[in-house]
Amino acid sequence: MPSYTVTVATGSQWFAGTDDYIYLSLVGSAGCSEKHLLDKPFYNDFERGAVDSYDVTVDEELGDIQLIKIEKRKYWFHDDWYLKYITVKTPCGDYIEFPCYRWLSGEGEIVLRDGQAKLACDDQIHILKQHRRKELETRQKQYRWMEWNPGFPLSIDAKCHKDLPRDIQFDSEKGVDFVLNYSKAMENLFINRFMHMFQSSWNDFADFEKIFVRISNTISERVMNHWQEDLMFGYQFLNGCNPVMIQRCLKLPDNLPVTTEMVECSLERQLTLEQEVEQGNIFIVDFKLLDGIDANKTDPCTLQFLAAPICLLYKNLANKIVPIAIQLNQVPGEENPIFLPSDAKYDWLLAKIWVRSSDFHVHQTITHLLRTHLVSEVFGIAMYRQLPAVHPIFKLLVAHVRFTIAINTKAREQLICEYGLFDKANATGGGGHVQMVQKAMQDLTYTSLCFPEAIKARGMDNAEDVPYYFYRDDGLLVWEAIKTFVAEVVDIYYEGDQVVEDDQELQDFVKDVYMYGMRGKKASGFPKSIKTKEKLCEYLTMVIFTASAQHAAVNFGQYDWCSWIPNAPPTMRAPPPTAKGVATIEQIVDTLPDRGRSCWHLGAVWALSQFQDNELFLGMYPEEHFIEKPVKEAMARFRKNLDSIVSVIAERNKNKKLPYYYLSPDRIPNSVAI
Ligand SMILES: [Fe+2]
Repeated sequence: MPSYTVTVATGSQWFAGTDDYIYLSLVGSAGCSEKHLLDKPFYNDFERGAVDSYDVTVDEELGDIQLIKIEKRKYWFHDDWYLKYITVKTPCGDYIEFPCYRWLSGEGEIVLRDGQAKLACDDQIHILKQHRRKELETRQKQYRWMEWNPGFPLSIDAKCHKDLPRDIQFDSEKGVDFVLNYSKAMENLFINRFMHMFQSSWNDFADFEKIFVRISNTISERVMNHWQEDLMFGYQFLNGCNPVMIQRCLKLPDNLPVTTEMVECSLERQLTLEQEVEQGNIFIVDFKLLDGIDANKTDPCTLQFLAAPICLLYKNLANKIVPIAIQLNQVPGEENPIFLPSDAKYDWLLAKIWVRSSDFHVHQTITHLLRTHLVSEVFGIAMYRQLPAVHPIFKLLVAHVRFTIAINTKAREQLICEYGLFDKANATGGGGHVQMVQKAMQDLTYTSLCFPEAIKARGMDNAEDVPYYFYRDDGLLVWEAIKTFVAEVVDIYYEGDQVVEDDQELQDFVKDVYMYGMRGKKASGFPKSIKTKEKLCEYLTMVIFTASAQHAAVNFGQYDWCSWIPNAPPTMRAPPPTAKGVATIEQIVDTLPDRGRSCWHLGAVWALSQFQDNELFLGMYPEEHFIEKPVKEAMARFRKNLDSIVSVIAERNKNKKLPYYYLSPDRIPNSVAI
């Protein structure tokens, strides 16, 4: 009688093992086996991390093995099981791999296909076509779209983390409990002692240092020591944690009536302001998105305020970017003066603080939340709904959406919901952040997510002309490395453009992103369908880059740049100044966040800047969804490319007082998960 050797690998994460009964059936081209209990006498099967082998003898020839069916039945109480993969050694000595990487919960069962990636057109056998279709039908019932707020990209239909399909939940919910993590952070940072003085102001800038003693690092210390300097202010627009706002100024905006006389002492080339604009030496950051956004009113004892500044910057003769004029609101007028470096020290400083606070809001809600977290979730849901596990694009993307739906669900549950943690210390809490996302949806275009084009659109692409823009330099290297890898994988499965166009599952994925993510907005420029291999490569590069590099660039610098509160105030407790000559140090300190809000903020940026335990960085694919050698070779080349980028960045950073490391591939997690 034919005998098969079946090897079963159980996951090594917490609670991955099971004591339940596990049955296996083999489905072959010539017949289907009986259900076999996988059990070795006097042995604890399916323990966490175990790889166990079993002999399965069948009554008759099964032909080619097409599917295997795994069933889990209750032993004592239901015990979830994480199955990594199964390999089957056939009677003729062939090995067939069946990747799984999924949980079996309750009276669960899973039907697996072998690991060869297949497009729908490659499947001729009825049973395989049916398996494909059934898998998607099941997934579409589990992964449903939901509108969390009007106008938002749709997100997952789940009220809380435990409602999510088991496969996309965090291994341990505890690790991502925001309430717990923020409180723990505050305890670690030794700042709990300030919480009872919640609404009291700090005494002066030095007083802020009191919450800064326990944990410090080179960058945040440097920020603390130099934050008042114009050079440090300008540098952050290039290489801080929101390096996406600055653009070359091609024409002075009508609502910023700034003249050469006003900025004369900042200009170094004996040119008029207009000539400087023409020569490309003027840059601009416009926070018009914040205009009309309601400030947080959730605490009746503390008034909070927002501004919508325009900041003009200048590339000086040393090729450094420095601010030269700041108008705090959009409509010019007597009560909206243009602040200048030549103004009184505290007038200028307060104007810069307002810009930093505005930058913090746009960073947190738009650059970070909308343009990495929410967008990546859209890719994740569309992938689960439209691509079966056997599809090469599923295999390619699954590592890059890992835990993204889970972290966003957690955020909607605890952080950005009504009465959530976000309301505690942020001026855009209490609904302002929702208005901001709704407004920013208009600018959420396809090209703005394609890194090289986004840089170009802001006129920041010329490295000689705009030096020291490390975010751009490193980002382009990583974009290219991802693109090369993606192109190699696409080449393996798509012979030509026609195969792309005919791949209905892929087209449904792309259409889902457009319809539900971008809400069917033509102006988003998101494709409704993809017709060429080249377009497909760009699209997938954009998906992977957004989830990995872009998120890393805007997430992991939060503690570095935002922990020194005056450099990134999450709220302002007095309105923007309407005249010059009135700002004092006392007034500035009374405007900045109080002690309690400072502590919440610090806890938040610290917790958000931490890598996960066992973080998977770009290029690491420990889950072997792909079994084909050419893909594994492409992965190895990808990792080699990434390693050389790590070296280039390390070399560039050598001896730098402000190293830029957020886009070093060894610090870029594969997916948005924090
Ligand atoms: Fe994040």
